[in-house]
Amino acid sequence: MSTTSTSPARGRLATAMLRRKPVTDLVAEADHGPLKRSLGLSQLTMLSIGATLGSGIFVVLGEAVPVAGPAVVVSFVLAGITALFSALSYAELAGMIPLSGSSYSYAYATLGELVAWVCGWCLVLEYGVSVASVAVGWGQYVNELLHVAFGVTLPDALSGPPGDGGLVNIPAIVVVLLAMVLLLSGAKESARANAIMVAVKIGTLILFCAIAFTAVRAQNFTPFLPLGLAGMSAGGAKLFFSYIGFDAASTAGEEARNPQRDLPRAILLSLGIVTVLYCLVAVAAIGALPWQQFGDKQAALSHVLTTITSNPLWAILLAIGAIVAISSVVLTVLYGQTRILFAMSRDGLVPKSLSTVHPKTGVPRTNTLVVSGFVAVLAAFVPLGKLADATSIGTLFAFGLVNVAVLILRKRRPEAERTFRVPFSPVTPILGVACCAYMMFSLDGATWIVFGAWMLLGLVIYFGYSVRRSRLAESVR
Ligand code: ALA
Repeated sequence: MSTTSTSPARGRLATAMLRRKPVTDLVAEADHGPLKRSLGLSQLTMLSIGATLGSGIFVVLGEAVPVAGPAVVVSFVLAGITALFSALSYAELAGMIPLSGSSYSYAYATLGELVAWVCGWCLVLEYGVSVASVAVGWGQYVNELLHVAFGVTLPDALSGPPGDGGLVNIPAIVVVLLAMVLLLSGAKESARANAIMVAVKIGTLILFCAIAFTAVRAQNFTPFLPLGLAGMSAGGAKLFFSYIGFDAASTAGEEARNPQRDLPRAILLSLGIVTVLYCLVAVAAIGALPWQQFGDKQAALSHVLTTITSNPLWAILLAIGAIVAISSVVLTVLYGQTRILFAMSRDGLVPKSLSTVHPKTGVPRTNTLVVSGFVAVLAAFVPLGKLADATSIGTLFAFGLVNVAVLILRKRRPEAERTFRVPFSPVTPILGVACCAYMMFSLDGATWIVFGAWMLLGLVIYFGYSVRRSRLAESVR
């Protein structure tokens, strides 16, 4: 083929990849969308806490202690600060562009369609894939509860995927289907159930602290850095997983009653509450039990309480708390994934059926069924043990983009109304990008390979399907 015929085609492709959705169009779209506006500030805050507080504190803490030692408390703070920089940027953009697509929509307004697609694709890692691995963690706690309460456990064949010694993970399917049924009943109903679960999980962690603090000994904190600063920061990278989810409120942009005012508040409030809880739990856990005794225990918090009280009742209560906690992560993260795909579908980048809304419930029904089915199959049949880090890398990439989007919009649209402004910009968003990059590079090579393969798959879909179906392509034609 001659270069004269390929050059215009290449030029068109480049234009397509860089086309942006004007902020004013995005905001108008949010005002006239088909979703019902039913969520207030407390429900939005609970949505973000629901998505955040889960297996990170109940499971990953036990993996981080052997890496960081008592300095795991500071690891939590480090991960929290990284999350905070990005949370400030999320708060600014969520107040300005309150759409269900969250960072995908912010990237569409600033960095163009290709980057927006990449961001949306990363969000599938953050939400869709992570919810599958969280559902697997739920099954582990169900087994733990059955074991401590009744002395029975589910057979391996029915509680693990092929490749992990099982055939199918039934508990993971059950929790995803339960969440799906709730989601299909409506956003308000789901938010109500989530609020109850959030109260139970916060109560469980406070109970843990109350008991563990009675056994705290100062000598358990010395030496504070047995594994050095490197251990402390590696612990931080691991624990970043426990902060993922604070952005969930931003996926409810089109269902919030007063999104401009409430989304920034919900994001920052949830992050504040979660950080305080994490630090308290970490101080209580490390203070009560020498760090060497954590030994990569899956149910670390139960282990602490049974060791210090010798009473199995606490392990049972903690297992129930963890099951409820992780159920609410499944519910809210699944919710977030459906709303992000809703926005991408409305833009034409994924099939249109994902943005049709049921007239009675106001729920994107096909979307909810498809996403839940996909997640259930993934959780049931794929060994996901190593996916927590892949989820973190995808999330960090999306968070990095949100910080960049703040910088771009401050330059391009300085006059646009903002209900929240990142303080000390551009320093704060730049620090946000730097922290995300630093955390990404703290993750190991295998995680980068999974991430690279995921991105490649995303690009194949974009160039094979989305670029031609985009609604912006229609308007150009
Ligand atoms: N932050 C969520 C959790 O810890 C993903 O389960």
